[in-house]
Amino acid sequence: MNKAYITTPIYYVNDVPHIGHAYTTIIADTMARYYRLKGFNTFFLTGTDEHGQKIEEAAKLRGRSPQEYADEISGKFRALWDVFDISYDKFIRTTDEDHKIGVQKAFQTMFDKGDIYKGEYEGHYCVSCETFFTQTQLIDETNCPDCGKPTTLLKEESYFFKLSKYQEKLLKWYQDDAKCVLPVGKKNEVISFVKQGLHDLSITRTSFNWGIKLPKEIGDDRHVMYVWLDALLNYITALGYGKEEENISFWPANIQLVGKDILRFHAIYWPAFLMSLDLPLPQHIAAHGWWTRNGEKMSKSKGNVVNPKEVADAYGLENFRYFMLREVPFGQDGDFSQKALIDRINSDLGNEFGNLLNRIIGMSGKYSDFHITSKNVQALHVKELDEALALLDGIELKLCDMQTNRYLEDLWKVLSIANNAITIHEPWNKIKNGDTQGALAVVGLVANLLAKVSILVSPIMPQTASKIADALGFEINTQNYEKFILAQTLLDDFIIKKVPPLFPKIEEELMNTPEPQATLKTKTETVKEKIIDESIITIDQFFQTKLKVGTIIEAQAVANSQKLLQLQVDIGEETPRQIVAGIKEYYAPEDLLNTQVCVVANLKPAKIMGLVSQGMLLAAKDNDGLSLIRPENKKKSGASIG
Ligand code: MSP
Repeated sequence: MNKAYITTPIYYVNDVPHIGHAYTTIIADTMARYYRLKGFNTFFLTGTDEHGQKIEEAAKLRGRSPQEYADEISGKFRALWDVFDISYDKFIRTTDEDHKIGVQKAFQTMFDKGDIYKGEYEGHYCVSCETFFTQTQLIDETNCPDCGKPTTLLKEESYFFKLSKYQEKLLKWYQDDAKCVLPVGKKNEVISFVKQGLHDLSITRTSFNWGIKLPKEIGDDRHVMYVWLDALLNYITALGYGKEEENISFWPANIQLVGKDILRFHAIYWPAFLMSLDLPLPQHIAAHGWWTRNGEKMSKSKGNVVNPKEVADAYGLENFRYFMLREVPFGQDGDFSQKALIDRINSDLGNEFGNLLNRIIGMSGKYSDFHITSKNVQALHVKELDEALALLDGIELKLCDMQTNRYLEDLWKVLSIANNAITIHEPWNKIKNGDTQGALAVVGLVANLLAKVSILVSPIMPQTASKIADALGFEINTQNYEKFILAQTLLDDFIIKKVPPLFPKIEEELMNTPEPQATLKTKTETVKEKIIDESIITIDQFFQTKLKVGTIIEAQAVANSQKLLQLQVDIGEETPRQIVAGIKEYYAPEDLLNTQVCVVANLKPAKIMGLVSQGMLLAAKDNDGLSLIRPENKKKSGASIG
């Protein structure tokens, strides 16, 4: 029996599931359902990535242990996939004991082979991306080239994997196996990256604990494994690698779905690890693009993250699945908007797909008491039938090449043939003119095309497809796939069942689009996540605050206030700034004259006790009181700080 092994990336547990995660998972689920339809013995893996510094820090900020925190978020992923009817066969967690054993075995195997050596790592590390970068890769000398956040310079003892040793072998793989990385454009990016030269990879860390320990035999328990080594190995530990290898025959994977941001790890490190382990390489690593919202990257701090559960609740899970796979060419970025989703539902699904079923229910009800026959379809509609069969003939290749949008476009061309047949042949006129056979042949043609489309759309819209098949008197299963698609057989005569419209028209936007993630989190979680997100800023964000040295040239108490002083501060402008500061309890006005301070110079002016304040002074406060922050040596008024 043919086998298929499909994987998603395993999701970090520092964030609840969002539309990007749902997209990867839905494509993978589609592929798994497609292979099951074809009768392949299929194994579909998903799960969560739970180790590493990022998770350790996220848990700490919430006052939780990493394990507790991982349990909770991993549970949220699993619960969502269950609600979404994702047909995974295994949900792996990198904190699973079996996984740890497999990872340690892999480490030991690579070590014994001489592919791992001990050295010292010095480099810039981005905790958010869990990735090392060289100085030349950084933006503005300090920031991560992938996410823009500041990196940390690390110098520590580390074990290295001899990635450089595999450079030529990798290039040969890309060259020999045309479709090993999909889409091909993305493969070319990988090739140019590898051609620039691969450095050996630091694969252990000593600066934190939340990770898998090295195998005992190595005798170095200060190190934990680099999270990407740990995570990538999930694809084989899930099959039992290192323990009971009951499912290992599923390896190599047929399709490994990833987002474009993590392609480098999957198309370079992962095959190199596999080469070192003497295991075969995956057939396809397929990288999809990113979903944006109104053209912008989604982020919690912007509050523009789309919650997939909310979309599915409002518009229907299968409509959402269809939209995601149809709207964007695989590999490209796509923008989420309710308008685009509504258009797809009303037009593609309602008018072109669901309506066909209603029309043949209506017509067959009038003409033949709901009896539908394939008799005369071949004889009277050979042209339409051939055209449709020709389209269906090449269609599966598109799905296997991950061109989900083109696959659906072709299925909809088949639906157009059916819709056009009704318009052109006007069965109601045939009935009027006494040509009942002719009218029934049109209805029969449409029913057959609808049946074939419902089988092939079933991996994307399983419930909808089953409802249509049920109305047309058959079941969606491998046997019928072979009969109606591969053998191109027509439907046996049947009585169509009446079903209510499958895609009721949507008149207006159904989501209010407030902060969508809020529904999945408690208020405290949201606040804490905001803190985490906002606690890190880029250098550009920092420089949005204009800080200047100021010299206090006048100071007096504000009448009727116990706290405020009214200051005139020279910050090198034509006139001094008036600043009202809450420092009266700590400074006497006369002591401030001619002293220097640090001023936030681009604050929106505010009125305090009726006085305009045109800036703010920097100060530090603790239990012992408050101290103004001042330059160590006298500086020119207006000198910029930063
Ligand atoms: N844990 C790693 C993967 C390890 S696999 C051995 C990871 N996790 S992730 O949770 O950050 O991302 C998982 C997937 O979600 C990636 O494929 C990523 O591309 C995808 N997406 C995250 N945001 C996305 C969008 N806005 N749009 C589409 N997919 C995006 O990386």
